[in-house]
Amino acid sequence: MQATASWRPMSSNDIPAVMLLADKIHPDLPESASIFAERIKHFTDGCLVLAGEEICGYIMSHPIRKRCPPALDSLLAEIPQDADQYYIHDVAILPTLQGRGLSADGIRRVLTIAQSYHTTCLVSVYGTFGFWSRFGFEAKMGDPEISSKIQGYGADALYLERQNTAEQVLR
Ligand SMILES: CC(C)(COP(=O)(O)OP(=O)(O)OC[C@H]1O[C@@H](n2cnc3c(N)ncnc32)[C@H](O)[C@@H]1OP(=O)(O)O)[C@@H](O)C(=O)NCCC(=O)NCCS
Repeated sequence: MQATASWRPMSSNDIPAVMLLADKIHPDLPESASIFAERIKHFTDGCLVLAGEEICGYIMSHPIRKRCPPALDSLLAEIPQDADQYYIHDVAILPTLQGRGLSADGIRRVLTIAQSYHTTCLVSVYGTFGFWSRFGFEAKMGDPEISSKIQGYGADALYLERQNTAEQVLR
């Protein structure tokens, strides 16, 4: 049924459907609708939905100051003018459609936007490090400041970074 689903920009009209997905996929990492609305407002290009007959996935991403990922469920107020790193806040695919490679196109799209920055980072949860390593992300451990910043993401949270080289985007 979702065989023709494709990635497109997220609009504020998509937020109710995106929230339903987020609540289903991240019951222990809840975020409010205002978080999605604010990301769309401040950095539209980084917010995508996977849309077929219904919304079956989403991506939120935006620039940040290096190694300062925002706390879960927190508003940004603005994208800092001195932002020097790209950040993938969340990628989620409807559980029944996971494991079919549907996220890859959307992730490549945001990694192309990320090329304006030297690095992209994210907080990996649910043991997804292996998945992210396909896109060139590597774990950066041993930084107590980062560890405290990602505390709210749960015990399995791992801070990852990648160099934004064109070669890795194409992998
Ligand atoms: C992680 C996620 C975004 C990957 O997207 P995807 O389109 O499912 O990715 P792929 O189809 O390329 O699968 C990648 C790997 O995810 C694994 N996977 C994750 N969930 C899966 C599922 N429900 N069924 C099958 N495989 C799954 C597979 O092992 C696969 O690896 P393999 O190809 O070596 O077997 C998606 O599975 C998802 O939304 N998971 C829940 C939310 C999440 O973890 N988000 C990322 C937080 S950092």
